[in-house]
Amino acid sequence: MFVVAGVTGKTGSIVAETLLAAGKKVRVLVRDAAKGAPWEARGAEVRVLASLDDSTALAAALEGAEGAYLLSPPSMGAEDFLAERRVTVDALAAAVERSRVPHVVFLSSVGGQHPGATGPIRTVHYGERRLAETGAKLTFVRAAYFLENWAAVVAAVKAGKLPTFIPADRVIPMVATRDIGAVAAKALLDGPPASKVDVLELAGAKDLSAKDVAAIFGRLVGRSVEAEEAPLDAVVPTFTSFGASTSVAGLFREMYEGIARGTVTWEGSPNARLVRGTTDPESVLRAFV
Ligand SMILES: NC(=O)c1ccc[n+]([C@@H]2O[C@H](COP(=O)([O-])OP(=O)(O)OC[C@H]3O[C@@H](n4cnc5c(N)ncnc54)[C@H](OP(=O)(O)O)[C@@H]3O)[C@@H](O)[C@H]2O)c1
Repeated sequence: MFVVAGVTGKTGSIVAETLLAAGKKVRVLVRDAAKGAPWEARGAEVRVLASLDDSTALAAALEGAEGAYLLSPPSMGAEDFLAERRVTVDALAAAVERSRVPHVVFLSSVGGQHPGATGPIRTVHYGERRLAETGAKLTFVRAAYFLENWAAVVAAVKAGKLPTFIPADRVIPMVATRDIGAVAAKALLDGPPASKVDVLELAGAKDLSAKDVAAIFGRLVGRSVEAEEAPLDAVVPTFTSFGASTSVAGLFREMYEGIARGTVTWEGSPNARLVRGTTDPESVLRAFV
């Protein structure tokens, strides 16, 4: 039996779907029983937890599992994002330790090897470190920039502009969340790695620049779409205007600075190995237009 957190989200849903399709028993974690109903209908066992922060409830939910998919959930409104996510990560680690689940697949991020200067990614660095202190074998899936992040700018795209805080010509790895879920599920099905930790750095089928993304959107909307680089000073006002707290917005500025400086990047061998997804980026972006 496998446990899947974040099943109502983009990656967790694919993990659970893939495991169920492989005929495995799956226990999904939800915060709201109603959101569990469709998963129950698909044959999963549903466990309702107030939050992943509740390590006692999480340990009970992990009981008897051969593997678990865990993540540090986003919280755009957090007053102190890093402190709140430390609480969550500490709860994950305590529950893993207590339940003795033998294998954890943890969703990390490109740049997760660095302790600082990566914005919200600092949280998954802490997650990697804390989980490494438990007795579980670990697979860290360090995912690239999600292709789905571009959904936020679709209104501008339809007006011919792709606003970007990433330098428009900079080619970076971008991945579909479908590929993340598929790779995480495969890691669970393959079982614990031979070594304590296996670090997968997961890129998409092809690395892309914002200009490339604009060109794809242009084909999809049938008009010219120009990538328009916005200054880093605009990150905080933009993110707060979308409802992010100043703590979160400031961290996103730090992350975009890290991307521009080239610090939010892969670690590479010998500690990590590059894996590529197969999803065509156009098929992801098509769903947003
Ligand atoms: N965006 C990127 O470019 C990027 C790149 C690399 C890594 N990441 C990582 O990806 C993560 C997001 O993964 P995703 O896209 O699969 O998630 P998502 O679609 O945003 O969904 C978040 C999931 O977490 C659940 N959740 C939120 N807070 C929770 C809590 N306190 N306790 C229990 N469950 C909670 C949500 O459940 P409800 O339905 O109850 O809300 C939902 O199932 C980020 O947090 C980051 O760590 C992101």
